[in-house]
Order: sequence, then structure tokens, then C-alpha cells
Amino acid sequence: AVKRLSVPDISARKGATPVVCLTAYTAPMAGLLDPHCDVLLVGDSLGMVLYGLPSTLGVTVEMMVAHGAAVVRGSNHAAVVVDLPFGSYQESPEQAFRVAARILAETGAAAVKLEGGEEMAATIDFLVRRGIPVMGHVGLTPQAVNVLGGYRARGRSDAEQAKILGDARAVAEAGAFSLVIEGVVEPLARQVTELVPVVTIGIGASAACDGQVLVSDDMLGLFADFTPKFVKRYADLATQVGAAAQAYAEDVRARRFPGPEHTFAEKRPKA
Ligand code: KIV
Ligand code: NA
Repeated sequence: AVKRLSVPDISARKGATPVVCLTAYTAPMAGLLDPHCDVLLVGDSLGMVLYGLPSTLGVTVEMMVAHGAAVVRGSNHAAVVVDLPFGSYQESPEQAFRVAARILAETGAAAVKLEGGEEMAATIDFLVRRGIPVMGHVGLTPQAVNVLGGYRARGRSDAEQAKILGDARAVAEAGAFSLVIEGVVEPLARQVTELVPVVTIGIGASAACDGQVLVSDDMLGLFADFTPKFVKRYADLATQVGAAAQAYAEDVRARRFPGPEHTFAEKRPKA
């Protein structure tokens, strides 16, 4: 039997080889990505990517449980980390524990991820001491879009830089095993990675981090529309899907599909 990477396996990668992470939301995609990844992240980005929501704020615990369980079923190598959705953990450490315990129990995932800095340190400590590994997430935190006023890169002012450094330190000291740094300027990502003893995983945060994550649908080019600057497109699946649908439509309209090879012939009982 294959042994999955564990949370301590991921922690041990600080200062060693880069941690490879991609998002996954479904069993078949998890199966395709799993052999190549150390961590599969069931991100609450699924609200926008899969459900067409305008932000991640409308994502529910039920969605995260359903997709988290699918990703665990579809993989056997990477450590699976599931995002805690907006509103399910910010109120108190007890609320966060209840939701995180449910997610680990009902999905089989190894850890949860939550957004926030100093204000979430007590919650991270509460969870980790009670058996729930936590990945932090600082910098551009999409669940705070209404406070931040948009998705622009962070850390361009001294004040913002000091705030994010303090957040990263607090999250690491609280016991997070790893830390996503999203949408920050390179010098800040480098400083955070040097400052904290835990694995930093960057998205739009330069090559200075201990690992990288991308939204799989972005890097696969499954979106026809806007791609952020920090995404490298490794495939152009949107074009391929469109072309396949067009070819199918033309075949059906011209009665070219189905052909004899796709058709069940009548089977007569022998006399
Ligand atoms: O929801 C998500 O996909 C994430 C990653 C982009 C880090 O949080
Ligand atoms: Na997320």
C-alpha cells in the first residue's frame, strides 16, 4: 500500500526541496494531479471556480466536506488540506474546532487551512493542541476582500509589510505547520520565509517561498477569461473543450454521430 505524505513530512521540507501544491476539487482531477504533488489543497476558490460565485464568501462547510471527501477518495499520495470557509471559524476557537474536526472526520483530510494573522493565533493554537494540523494563509486573504477592497498585491507600503510580517510570525508561533503567502511583493515573501521556521507556500509571492501553489484550473487554462499575472499557463484546456463541443455539435447536426461503431445492433435469439 502507498503511504500518503503526512503533515510532519511536509514540515520537514523547510530548507530542503520545494513543496509542490495544486488545488483539487474533484476525485478525477485529484487522481491526475496526485502523483506529481506533495499537497493537494481543496481551496475555497472552488466557490468561484466551480460554482460561479462572485467571491469565496458564499462557500459553505457542506461544499468543503463534499469536495474534500472526493479529493481524498481520488488520491493516495499527497497530503490533502481543506480550507475552512468564511464564517465557519472566525467567531471563536471553539467554533473553529467544531468545524475543523467535522471536516477531518468526514473527509479523511490531513489538515485544514484558515486565513488570518495575529487575530487567528489563539484559534490556531487551540486547534493544533487538540490534534488538528493547521496551514495558515497571510498576505492577500480573499475572505477579507470586503475589508481589503480588492485583490491587489500586498506589502507595497512599510505599514502593510510590517503587518504581514507580524501576522506570519504569530501564525507560525501559534503552531501552524505551513503558511500560504498570497499576493505579496518578492522582498516580503523572502523576509517571511527567512523569518518563520515553517514551510511557506507562495501564490503570487515569488520564487523565494519554500513551495508553490496554483489554482489548477488557472494553470490548466480551463478559464477562457481573466488570468492573473502570477499564473503560468501550462495547458490551454478551455480551447480544447470548446473545440470538442463544437465538433460534437456539428456531428450531431449532420447525423455523423453516432456511427455504427457506437450503436448497439439488434440481437435476435437463435431459432
Ligand atoms: O482557495 C484556494 O485555492 C487557496 C489557494 C489559492 C492558496 O486558498
Ligand atoms: Na482559499
